[in-house]
Order: sequence, then C-alpha cells, then structure tokens
Amino acid sequence: MAGTILITGGAGFIGSHLADELLAHGYRVRVLDDLTPQVHGGGERPEYLSSGVELLVGDVRDPDAVAKAVEGADAVVHLAARVGVGQSMYELAEYTAVNSLGTAVLLEALLHRPVERLLLASSMSVYGEGLYRAPDGSLVDGVERPREQLERGEWELDGLEPVPTPETKQPALASVYALTKYGQERLCLMFGSAYGIPTTALRLFNTYGPRQALSNPYTGVLAIFASRLLNGRPPLVFEDGRQRRDFVSVFDVARACRLALESDRAAGQVLNVGSGESVTVLEIAERLARILGVDIESEALGRWRAGDIRHCFADITRARELLGYEPQVDLEAGMRDLAEWLAGRTAVDRVDAATQELSSRGLL
Ligand code: UD1
Repeated sequence: MAGTILITGGAGFIGSHLADELLAHGYRVRVLDDLTPQVHGGGERPEYLSSGVELLVGDVRDPDAVAKAVEGADAVVHLAARVGVGQSMYELAEYTAVNSLGTAVLLEALLHRPVERLLLASSMSVYGEGLYRAPDGSLVDGVERPREQLERGEWELDGLEPVPTPETKQPALASVYALTKYGQERLCLMFGSAYGIPTTALRLFNTYGPRQALSNPYTGVLAIFASRLLNGRPPLVFEDGRQRRDFVSVFDVARACRLALESDRAAGQVLNVGSGESVTVLEIAERLARILGVDIESEALGRWRAGDIRHCFADITRARELLGYEPQVDLEAGMRDLAEWLAGRTAVDRVDAATQELSSRGLL
C-alpha cells in the first residue's frame, strides 16, 4: 500500500496521530473534518495537526465535500463520528445522522471513486458487557444488568468473573452510539465485499493520550479526569469505580490502523485493538493524580450512566496474528505521555454541566 490516504475525522484525537504515523511511513495524507465545535472549540485548524496534512473542512454527510475528498485517494480510513456514549442517548438524531448517514454518504462516493482499501474505526462498545466466566468454568455471553439491580446499587454481575473479550462475542448494543458503530461495521464490510474493496473494521478499546479534547465533557474518562484534577477538583466516578476497561495508548492505536491498511490478511475482518490489560476506573483516577502530582481523591457517585457496561477488556489474539500488532506503550508510559502533554495546558472543566444534562434526562 502506498499513495494518498484520506482520513475522515482526521483532525481529531485518533486521526491526527494516525496522520503522523502515515506521514512518517511515506504516505500522503488528506483529511476531511468538519472541526466540530464540541471538540475543536473555535473551528480553527488544530495546531497539533501536522503541516504535512492536506485539510479539507467539510461534513461527512455532505456528498459534494465527500466527493472532493475521495478524489485521488488510494485508501480511506473512516473515523468521522460523534463519540459520546452518554450524549448519544439524548442526541439520537445527531448521532444517527453523523455516524450512520455519514458512512452511507461516504460509501456512495466510493461507488464513483473506488479505493484499494477501506478501514473503519468501530468500537468495543458494540459488545455491551464483555465476556464472563461462570464458577463451573463455562463462558457466559450475553449477560446484562437489569435496571432494578442497578437501582439497588448492585453493580457486579453476581458470581461471574470478567475475562478478555474476543471478536466472537455476540454484539449487545446498549447505547445509540454502539448501535451506530455496529451499523457502520456491517455497512462497510457489506459494501467492501459487494464491490471488491478489502475492508477492515477495528474495534477500538478505550483510547487515551495527548490531544484528546480536554474541555469536552463527553470525551473519554481519562481526559475528563485530567481536566477535573487540573482544576483542583475530584474526578467523579460512576458506580463504585471498580468497573474494568482496557485503556490503550493512541500511539498503539495509530500503529494498529497503519498495520491494518497494509495487511492483506486483515481484509474482511473485524479486529479488537486494545492493550490486552484491564484496569479499574478508580485505579485510573488514582494513577493519573499521582502522575500529575496532585493530592486529590476521586469521588464515587454511586450512580450509573445509562448505556454503560460493567466490564469489558480486549482479547487481542486476532490482531496479533493477522496484523502482527503488539502494544508497545504500557499504562505507566502512556499516562506519562499524557501528563507531559497536559503540562501548561488549560482545561475548562464542564463536567458538572454535562452531569446535570444526563441527570435531568434520567440518564444518570
Ligand atoms: C469510550 C469512547 C467511545 C469508544 C469506547 C471504546 C468516548 C467519549 N467514548 O466509551 O467512543 O468507542 O470508549 O472503548 O471517548 N466514567 C466515570 N466518570 C466520568 C466518565 C466516565 O466514572 O466522568 C466511567 C464510565 O462510567 C465508564 C468508564 O469510566 O465505566 C469509561 O467511560 P468513557 O471514557 O466514557 O468510555 P466508554 O463509555 O467506554
């Protein structure tokens, strides 16, 4: 694979790192991005975006903008999406429009301008709850926590132990966001197979690192906690904070994306991209405070967020085998990268307003 890669949503957190990774490996990079205000504030070209990137400002739902963007591209990486799980539960039309319709518009443009490769960023959120093991050793797929259980403040799945989740786990779509991500996956793979375009969907686990939008209260939990701590306030932890996730460095994610573009074996596949390790949300808050040198403990709210799951972390065997993917940035090093980038940065803490927003809608 060589040539020009179009990254939709490439001015964002993951896309801009992927742009760096691709430029460093000799590709030309074009980005189509609408510079969404919730992420990009004033709508200017982000200063972190490499000057080597050709930026087209436009919406992925706009057929004209997309037609221009795909012109002359050899491959497309589709990242443009709305990404807040909680927010998706009340901005249903916006999430469905950007994520679902946007993908359809992009694929229609590819009918006229076929590419050699298509890569989609899907999400671990399509799994819902991860995979569990019962006391008798059998694997349990498809569990969920009924609302009444959560109302009693019983957060765990009784008697079940979480284990790494492989791609073979059945999807269980617990949020509008997850539904749109799963739809994007099926749409892209279906399209790829119908038109002979090798297509891969990567199910990204909780990606963190430099450039994650700090003042966006609907961004990933590490960026949210960082902006709380930098403002001298405690991170607010949902449930009891013992829910487990798989935090993967954005540098590893960018590398996995490049490997997927370059690998013939990845065509037609859905692949997990995580660190392969799990950590609790409480631990994340503690470690981040330590690395930032602030002595603030997190506050467990004892409330839950609609659409949230308890535990999910990746089994990355398939990505290892098919892509030769190996995570290189462990949590300690990744948090140090984040802390270095945070130094001297200001973050407007809008978490209270966002919490209020969810709460007033009965989503918390
Ligand atoms: C995140 C991404 C999603 C991505 C998925 C992949 C965002 C906004 N969402 O969803 O796009 O596809 O990872 O794994 O980046 N939590 C708190 N306090 C907070 C915020 C969150 O305790 O203030 C908890 C949540 O309840 C959850 C965990 O932290 O248990 C992770 O939440 P979050 O960072 O929003 O990630 P996901 O919902 O997993």
